[in-house]
Amino acid sequence: MSNLVCDNLKIHNNELYFADRSTKELASKYKTPLYVMDENTLRQNCRKYTESLKKYFGNGAKALFASKACSFKRMYEIVSSENMGVDVVSVGELYTALKAGVNPEDMYFHSNSKTDEDIEYAISKNIGYFVIDNIEELDAINRYAGKKGIKQKALIRITPGIDTHTYEAVNTGKVDSKFGFPIETGAGEFITGEAIKRENVDLKGFHCHVGSQLFDSDVFVRSADTMLNFVSDMKNKFNFETEILDLGGGYGVRYVESDPYIDIEDNIRQVAEFYKKKCSSLGIKEPSVRMEPGRSIVADAGLTLYTANTVKIIDGYKNYVAVDGGMCDNPRFALYGSAYTVIAADKAEEKCDFPCSLVGRCCESGDILQENVMLPSSIKRGDLIAVLTTGAYNYSMSSNYNRIPKLPVVMLDGNDDYIAVKRETLDDIIRNDV
Ligand code: LLP
Repeated sequence: MSNLVCDNLKIHNNELYFADRSTKELASKYKTPLYVMDENTLRQNCRKYTESLKKYFGNGAKALFASKACSFKRMYEIVSSENMGVDVVSVGELYTALKAGVNPEDMYFHSNSKTDEDIEYAISKNIGYFVIDNIEELDAINRYAGKKGIKQKALIRITPGIDTHTYEAVNTGKVDSKFGFPIETGAGEFITGEAIKRENVDLKGFHCHVGSQLFDSDVFVRSADTMLNFVSDMKNKFNFETEILDLGGGYGVRYVESDPYIDIEDNIRQVAEFYKKKCSSLGIKEPSVRMEPGRSIVADAGLTLYTANTVKIIDGYKNYVAVDGGMCDNPRFALYGSAYTVIAADKAEEKCDFPCSLVGRCCESGDILQENVMLPSSIKRGDLIAVLTTGAYNYSMSSNYNRIPKLPVVMLDGNDDYIAVKRETLDDIIRNDV
C-alpha cells in the first residue's frame, strides 16, 4: 500500500480516488496523460489565505495568487471569485487574466525584465500595480504613465538579504539575487528616493519574496522584521509613508510523506502578531499587507494520470517504467530533482516491491519523472499511474518538446467534472508553422 500525502486522496477497492472520484473512470473518460484538479481543495486553499489575512491583519490585507504556478483562464476565474488579486509576470499571464475577467486594478505586474512593450501594454490595460525591479523599468513606467497622463501605482522589490533553506533555483532573497534591490548595498534606499521623485509614479510601498517551497516556520517573520526596519528607515530618510507591504509567497507543500506539514493559518497568525508589535515599537503606521502564494494554492489540488507503456528490466542494473507523458508535462525532476509520490492508481492496495525509475516518452535520458519509485511487481502496459501533488508548476512549465501535445486540465467539482483546458491536437502543434 502506498503513502498518501494529501487529504483529498483515498484508496478504495484497490483503486486511487481523488476528491472522491474514481481515477480509473476519469482516465477512461478523458484519456491519459491527464492533469486533474480538485476545485474544492483549490477554493479551500484560497480561503486559508483570504480568511486568515483578514482575521489577523485586518480588512486592508489581501492575498494575491502568484499565477506563474498555474495559469489558465478558469484558474483566474476561480481565484478572483475567491477575492484574491493576482501576481502576473508577463503580458501572457496578464492577457489570460484579463480574458478571464479579472479586474486589472487587482493585478500586480512582477518580472525582473519587463520590456517597454510590456510596460506600455500593462499601462494601457489599467494595471493596478507594477512591482519595480530595476531603474530602467522605473523610468519606462514613468514615461508611459506620463504619456497617458496618469500616476501609475507601484511597489519596489527589495532584496532583504535572507537566505532560505530551499533549492538554489528558487532562493531569491539573497543579496546577490537577480531580483530586486538589496538593502545591504544601499540600492533599496537609492531607488526609493528615485521613485519618489518620478512625477508619474505613485509609490505605494515595497515587496519582497525570499524563496519557494519554504518550511522554516519563521521565514515570514524574518522578512517582516527586515522589511519593517526598511520601511521605518525610508520614513526617517524621505518622510515616505509605506501604504503597502507585500511579503511574497513561498510556503512549502507536501510532495512526499517526509515533507513537513505547515499550518498556514497559524503561521499567518504568528506573522501578524510580530508585525503589529514591530510596527508599534518602530512607531510606524502598519502598512497594509499582501501575500502572494502560488504553490500552496494549487499543488495539492492537482495530480497527473498516466498510462504505463513499457516495463523494462535491465537485469542486475535497473528497472524502468515508461509512461505516456514525461518531462514535457512535468520538468521538475529534470530541473530540480524534485520529489513526488507515485502510485499505481489501479493497483493501489498491492504490495509495492518493484523498484524502478518512472520515466517519460521524450527522447533523452534526463526525461525522468521520479527515481527510486516502488510499484507493484505486477505493473504492466496499460496500468494507470498517478503522480501526486502536481497542481503547481507542472501545467505552467509544460512544453511541446518532441512535439508532444500538451495535456488537458480536467476540473472536478463535487460530482461534476469539466474541461478547463483542452488537450492540444496535432493541428495545434503546427498552428504557427508557415
Ligand atoms: N511571488 C514572487 C515574486 C515569486 O517569484 C514567486 C515564485 C511567488 C510569489 C510564489 O511562490 P510560491 O508560493 O509558489 O512558492 N518553478 C519552480 C518555482 C519557481 C518559483 C518562482 N517564484 C518550481 O517548480 O519549484
